[in-house]
Amino acid sequence: MVKDLMRERKKKLKDSTIPGPEEQNQTAGEDAKATILQKEVGLISGVCMIVGSMIGSGIFISPRAVLASTGAVGPCLCVWAASGVLSALGALCYAELGTMITKSGGEYYYLMEAYGRMVGFLFCWSSTIVMKPSSAAIIFLTFGEYAAAPFYPGCKPPLFLVKCLSAVGILLLLLVNGLSSRLARYLQNFFTAAKLLIIVVIVIAGIVLMLQGNTENLTNAFEGASPSIGNLGLAFYNGMWAYDGWNQLNFITEELKNPHRNLPLAIIIATPLVSICYILVNIAYFTAMTPTEMLQSPAVAVTFGDKALQPFAWTIPLFVALSTLGAANGGCITCSRLSYVAGREGHLPKIISYISPKQYTPTPALIFNAFLSVLYIIPTEISILINYFSFAQWTIYGLTALSLIILRFTRKDLERPVRVPVFIAVITVLMSAYLVMAPVLENAEIEYLYCFIFILSGLIFYFPFVHCKFSWTRSIMRPITMHLQLLMEVVGPEDAE
Ligand code: ARG
Repeated sequence: MVKDLMRERKKKLKDSTIPGPEEQNQTAGEDAKATILQKEVGLISGVCMIVGSMIGSGIFISPRAVLASTGAVGPCLCVWAASGVLSALGALCYAELGTMITKSGGEYYYLMEAYGRMVGFLFCWSSTIVMKPSSAAIIFLTFGEYAAAPFYPGCKPPLFLVKCLSAVGILLLLLVNGLSSRLARYLQNFFTAAKLLIIVVIVIAGIVLMLQGNTENLTNAFEGASPSIGNLGLAFYNGMWAYDGWNQLNFITEELKNPHRNLPLAIIIATPLVSICYILVNIAYFTAMTPTEMLQSPAVAVTFGDKALQPFAWTIPLFVALSTLGAANGGCITCSRLSYVAGREGHLPKIISYISPKQYTPTPALIFNAFLSVLYIIPTEISILINYFSFAQWTIYGLTALSLIILRFTRKDLERPVRVPVFIAVITVLMSAYLVMAPVLENAEIEYLYCFIFILSGLIFYFPFVHCKFSWTRSIMRPITMHLQLLMEVVGPEDAE
């Protein structure tokens, strides 16, 4: 009965809305091309994708945490610079991997190629259940904090309000991305322009302050530094959070025009650009506030605005909120691509890779991610989330850099349009190992173990649902898929093509 209804509804949806591939491109225009992974992302869009994902919440919230963990201005700036270098090294490894394996989905295929399908599955499990929604939650919480900040000058806004605003942000982007991919792309460009504008304003204000002689915080910058090995690891977690996003273009490689040229070029342009912006912004912060003021500030960029940008200080929270929404929007786009390829490989419930045939948007993936993001914002605090996110994320970066080395031996046959010196991968692996181990060794919190156990717990699903494909798993999944498909009016990507 449900099956018949389903078939009928599906047929109706297809008849009424899904033309053949040629008509499809004419009638539905760009949206249709995007959902069936047509190659339409050029170099500029690629650079914007990386810059727009990297600059989000971190540069406006992390400076306080980096300073708290390092104890003085000098080491703090060194951590920011070193984080930029480390991101660039990681990104170079991804340039080789992304041009060697030109499939969308980021680390997913690289890990699968080097370590086998099980590791690929664990990556996709931990990414969709933990990493993507928790990173979205951090970004949205920052959005909430900054959206509320103008109404609470000089003090922290109530947590409940921040969380409500974060939830509103999640729903807003869900709506936009669910309604139209084109609208989401336009919005992304607008957000990227806004964030670059505010960065430039902060840097110029900093230069003016410096020319006026406000450099005392930058002299004797190493006095009072007290970083321990573990604290330095935590400082890096916060710095690297701000830089995170350099791998985002690898999630949409199949949509890149001429990936062999554009992927490495976009990476080489975007990563140093963001590093320079971040170092200049941090120096600007220190021209306007003392380290103590920074440590006490509820929102670093707002405090900077209050001190240096009067009477336009109100613009800062507005632009920071826009910047965070932009990074979250980029996350929505890449997250849906990962779900798409993982559904294609049978590693996620099929329904998550389905798309709406009317709007050509990956509605189930978007709803799933939004639902989990809301769950993550309820119990948590930003800094704690950042630590666990970074722990899991750097395990993955390390394994991916190691896969580059392994594939040099096991897949000599693969063409490598970009070949990075192997020491770059070795340094990335060693730094990742340090970043994963240091905070755990320094402060052996049980939560890191939970995090690890959680990643492994994906195996409970892997063996019955993916590896052995027992028939009972199909009889569980089929009706669920069918009902959800009816409810959301979506079809499998293969049906839409
Ligand atoms: N660097 C970004 C920020 O500062 C966060 C990027 C989150 N990572 C991601 N893969 N979306 O907000």
